[in-house]
Amino acid sequence: MNHFIPIKSIGQSFNECIHCGLIDPEKDTTIIFYDNDFLKAKIKELKESFPNSTIHTSAVKANPLIKILEKSKALGLGAEVASEGELFLAQKAGFRNEKIIFDSPAKTKAELTYALQNDIHINADSLMELDRIARLKQTIPSASLVGLRINPQVGTGKIASTSLAGKYSKFGVPVKDYRDKIIKYFKAHDWLNGIHMHIGSQGCEMQLLLKGIEKGLQIIKEINNTLKSENRKVEFFDIGGGLPVSYHHNQHPPDIKIYGQEIKSLLKKYNLENLRLITEFGRYLHVNSGYILTKVEYAKHYPNDNTLIVHAGADLLLRECLNPGQWYHEISLLNKDGNHKKSKTLKEYQIAGPLCFANDIVARDVKIPEACEGDYLVIHDTGGYTFGMWSKYVSRMFPKIIGKESNHYFVIKERETVKDIVRFWS
Ligand SMILES: Cc1ncc(COP(=O)(O)O)c(C=O)c1O
Repeated sequence: MNHFIPIKSIGQSFNECIHCGLIDPEKDTTIIFYDNDFLKAKIKELKESFPNSTIHTSAVKANPLIKILEKSKALGLGAEVASEGELFLAQKAGFRNEKIIFDSPAKTKAELTYALQNDIHINADSLMELDRIARLKQTIPSASLVGLRINPQVGTGKIASTSLAGKYSKFGVPVKDYRDKIIKYFKAHDWLNGIHMHIGSQGCEMQLLLKGIEKGLQIIKEINNTLKSENRKVEFFDIGGGLPVSYHHNQHPPDIKIYGQEIKSLLKKYNLENLRLITEFGRYLHVNSGYILTKVEYAKHYPNDNTLIVHAGADLLLRECLNPGQWYHEISLLNKDGNHKKSKTLKEYQIAGPLCFANDIVARDVKIPEACEGDYLVIHDTGGYTFGMWSKYVSRMFPKIIGKESNHYFVIKERETVKDIVRFWS
């Protein structure tokens, strides 16, 4: 499959949406596009890569749009949720409770009670949370699957803020120090039926992810040995998400087929082929399925530097602005009709957002053809971990989101109005 949405198709979609009235060039100063066909192809590839019995979920934090959750559900996915809010979004999108996986290191008693009462799958982040679940289960009959998140402690990836399997992590029970305790908890609680881990997001190479998975399989094997006499075993292994994508259009992303193949080999090595796998991908499913178009409000050409003021800044691209140099997006330039601007001579620009602080710079030293007022910048590969981190700072209005499927366009989410802003701050 294509790894990226081609610029030609982006320009065409923009033009068609202006002509059919879905985009109002005066009001829609930023538009987010999401391509359902791209998501569909990703899900197909994912399913083909893993054992048939695998339950795949979409990490809601990556893309919490209800219409996209509905689509993911229709295509056979479950939902991984990390808060009460995400849990209710998943239910609103129609996911059956058993297909909702509740992760979060801060689940309250009320949230756990609700999850147990509704048979929602829970992954406990700590032994303390397991103790809490054990107390609640004394009075709440529940068919919830319950897993324990471990930290396989296999090291960090290239991006510290999204790496979770170092010696210390705020998540999970460290396997090295707590091996015996983990096994004891499985022995003590017959409702504890799985192991969960999430090694990191982007920045963690496939070999690091596989190393973590192998650690998980090793402890599962040990737990199974201990539970053998009771005719019990670990029923599921939730490997989280984390497969990196490529944001650079001249680089191939890690191949999910190879990842799936390597995991199958590990299952075979440990004689655990019947273990039910669960995945929680976010970035792999969504990032390359979407892009942002944002209008050049001002093109500031000065003798020593050039800055484009656009309508997408740290409100929409929080990580990119707060961690300069760490997150990259390809940037292209379209004219107001959606034609790709190309030139042999390029200008260097700082791409600045509309917010009132110095670091509201989405991309630095970007070389593109000379831009002018009214052009649109394309910020590629923004279908995940962008609008999900929307910030209300400076009270900008959340942009319109347009979906595309089989050459048909539709509004996924309307542009916010000043009334919405007033309601939020009232
Ligand atoms: C518990 C958990 N599962 C899954 C994911 C999704 O990761 P990714 O988007 O890298 O696939 C995350 C992301 O942080 C996570 O924290």
